[in-house]
Amino acid sequence: MANRPVGFFDSGLGGASVLREALKLLPNENYIYYGDNANAPYGDRSDEEITSLTFRSAHRLVDMGVKAIVLACNTATATCINQIRSEFSIPVISVEPAIKPACMLPGDGKVLMMATMATTRLERYLRLQQRMPDPDRVINIPCPGIVERIESGKFSADDYDDLFAEYLAPYKNTNTDAIVLGCTHYIFIKDAFRRNAALHLKGKCELIDGNEGTVRQLQRVLSDHGLTNASGSASVTFCTSGDAERLLPIFNTLINRKDL
Ligand code: DGL
Repeated sequence: MANRPVGFFDSGLGGASVLREALKLLPNENYIYYGDNANAPYGDRSDEEITSLTFRSAHRLVDMGVKAIVLACNTATATCINQIRSEFSIPVISVEPAIKPACMLPGDGKVLMMATMATTRLERYLRLQQRMPDPDRVINIPCPGIVERIESGKFSADDYDDLFAEYLAPYKNTNTDAIVLGCTHYIFIKDAFRRNAALHLKGKCELIDGNEGTVRQLQRVLSDHGLTNASGSASVTFCTSGDAERLLPIFNTLINRKDL
């Protein structure tokens, strides 16, 4: 069992940002990545649709023989992580917007949590926000439109100016200590976040994500279950419900990016 691959899932390419961390931290594991690119983005869909698409994708990974699943999608986690955990007997690790480390930063500025429409409205995330020492420090900003653009292969800082101008208009010049990247796709456009923070906000605007924490959790869970592989080689098999010929070169570029 320990020699089996770890399965990574996202609605599309975003989970590759979590997989990058796993390749660095756990190079003795092997990986299968499943992106449901044909159905991305999930963030504008209903809870029922997100749940049924996530179940279908998780079953694909289990059918391919994975020993654990990383749900590398904030939207799927917020929607149905408990149902997924009760469906499968293998460990399921998930990502959540990293508002906790952001709220621990010193300062009297706001924390902007930017994520998909679904994540910002779902009860699981809103409960997490209420557990923060000062929940009102966190401003949730739904960002419809970003995921589609990333899926289409746009990664330049200025490709997103129109969208950010819209999202940040109500918060012009807000003193901001941190921006939480609450969607795994956003890691790949950090330059766009930095550029637009400088254009529209004030303050340090430190970018925070939870990817490293997720991979450390994966490491702990594998160890607790006696599932750690000592002889893997960080091999990655990419599977998608979308156009593999177009997506594979983008995926390979993303997991090898050194500038993030
Ligand atoms: N990467 C997914 C997330 O972390 C994107 C969801 C979507 O497809 O809208 O939420």
